[in-house]
Amino acid sequence: SFVLPKLKNGYKHQGPVVWCVLDGYGLGKDDPNVNPIIAAHPEKINAIVEAAKQKQLYKTIRAHGPAVGLPSESDMGNSEVGHNAMGCGQIYHQGTMLVDESFSSGRMFETENWKKVVGECGKNNKTLHMFGLLSDGNIHSHMNQIFQLIDGAVKSAVKKIRVHVLLDGRDVPPESGLVYINQLEEKLKSVAASGVDGKIASGGGRMYCVMDRYNSDWSIVRRGWNMMVHGQVEAADITADYPGYFKTATEAIEKCRQLHPDKKDQYNLPFVIVGEDGKPIGKMEDGDACVNWNFRGDRALQISRAFEETNATFTYFDRGTIPKVAYAGLLEYDTEIHVPSTYLVPPPEIHNTLSEYTCANGITAYAVAETHKYGHVTFFWNGNKSGYIDEKLELYECIESLPNSETESHPEMKAVEVTDKLVAALQSKKFQFLRVNYANPDMVGHTGNFDSCVRAVKCMDEQVARLAAEVEKLKGLLIITADHGNVEDKDHKGNKTSHTTANVLFAITDYSYNGEYTLIQDGVKPDGEPEGPGLTNIAATVLNLFGFEAPELYRKSLIQFK
Ligand code: 3PG
Repeated sequence: SFVLPKLKNGYKHQGPVVWCVLDGYGLGKDDPNVNPIIAAHPEKINAIVEAAKQKQLYKTIRAHGPAVGLPSESDMGNSEVGHNAMGCGQIYHQGTMLVDESFSSGRMFETENWKKVVGECGKNNKTLHMFGLLSDGNIHSHMNQIFQLIDGAVKSAVKKIRVHVLLDGRDVPPESGLVYINQLEEKLKSVAASGVDGKIASGGGRMYCVMDRYNSDWSIVRRGWNMMVHGQVEAADITADYPGYFKTATEAIEKCRQLHPDKKDQYNLPFVIVGEDGKPIGKMEDGDACVNWNFRGDRALQISRAFEETNATFTYFDRGTIPKVAYAGLLEYDTEIHVPSTYLVPPPEIHNTLSEYTCANGITAYAVAETHKYGHVTFFWNGNKSGYIDEKLELYECIESLPNSETESHPEMKAVEVTDKLVAALQSKKFQFLRVNYANPDMVGHTGNFDSCVRAVKCMDEQVARLAAEVEKLKGLLIITADHGNVEDKDHKGNKTSHTTANVLFAITDYSYNGEYTLIQDGVKPDGEPEGPGLTNIAATVLNLFGFEAPELYRKSLIQFK
């Protein structure tokens, strides 16, 4: 049962509890030249941190590596694992680890789905298409896994492989794409020795082709679909200088860079590789198979739906003549609506989420974010499930984001509107537990633009000030934290676009505080938790604030009562 016992000391916080996630707001160097947070000097956030430190209601916590279910200390945090961790209070082996385990045990190649998709393709002498993010960022995908899929396909007698590459530049340096293209081409050359014809067939930047999320812009998916499935570059992307059709991926990428130095890998124009006859070398055809090698769900869902749904439900763009392709995702991307229907590795099964406990114990809850991060405070938060836990007790609201392309020039994004909604929810007095994600430090951090990052942080400061004022009026409690680092480590050349391994802040401002509790202090590790306190410890902390004992299976609360 999810019903929890009350705290023996009878403590229960009066007033609403607001959990504010400043996405990608890590703790970096105290240097205004490399850290936009220091350059922005966010007065309100600094004051909150200072006051929390005075009362021992402040901690730095871990948001990367094993503390959030990633393989090693060098694995930077990300929003998927961060929000999973905050929303479930436990450490689960995350997708990338499950995939690695499945490769190393050989289990993946024994599954019925592998045999059905890749095995059948080999048997019938058809083409295996593979696509996904081409990098070793280990946030959506990893090169090693792509190579192991290729090796597996060769063992399963596949004789023709066509690879559709999505350039990264967001989880790895902004113009590192050709490094990964070269590695992939070497790999494809190496399998030629086994009689396999393996080639790159098409490609484009991840933020322009295929990898949209939360239905923010379906034209991104459409562009990717046309290039990968039909071997077509859309007319809008073709100019006299950029023909769209090339002999090699390198030629295409170099051409795009020369014409649009501002675009960088993540926005690289789509390209299709053609043979000597001028025809695309990797259009998808009836009987072919296709594997999506991304393990993370948010940006893999929409393209999976394009492959799997009929026209009765798929109304987002005209897919043209849809080839009958056997499609598989590396993981199941949504474990509630079961997309895709065929996948190669079972996803982390996240149980006993915080929302299940808050609902079972009658706590009313509210979640808000703008589109880019909406699924983070709902889908990821609830263990990769997209619906409500209890619609009678919960309300989730989404503010429509501006297009991705405007993030750099408008780093305030929709933060003001997000705060407006949250303030209205607070004033309605309908909710005891409210959570919000501000996308700015992360989304702007991914542009690499230092000055935009400074503006994003200043905007965060204003929103936190507004929020704190409202929480104070209601004698509530405000938690400020972050899901991972990003914005705190930039340069002035735009060369730093990815997340970091930084710790993050955890600050409580309790407007009805009477000294009843403090937080365990830095350097103290909760019993039996060698990783040290991290994002997973917040859920138990919040349950304590609501007057409940946290469940045994949760990582320990950070609160110590006096
Ligand atoms: C993205 O998908 O935008 C990045 O790869 C990761 O960003 P996020 O983990 O902060 O969403």
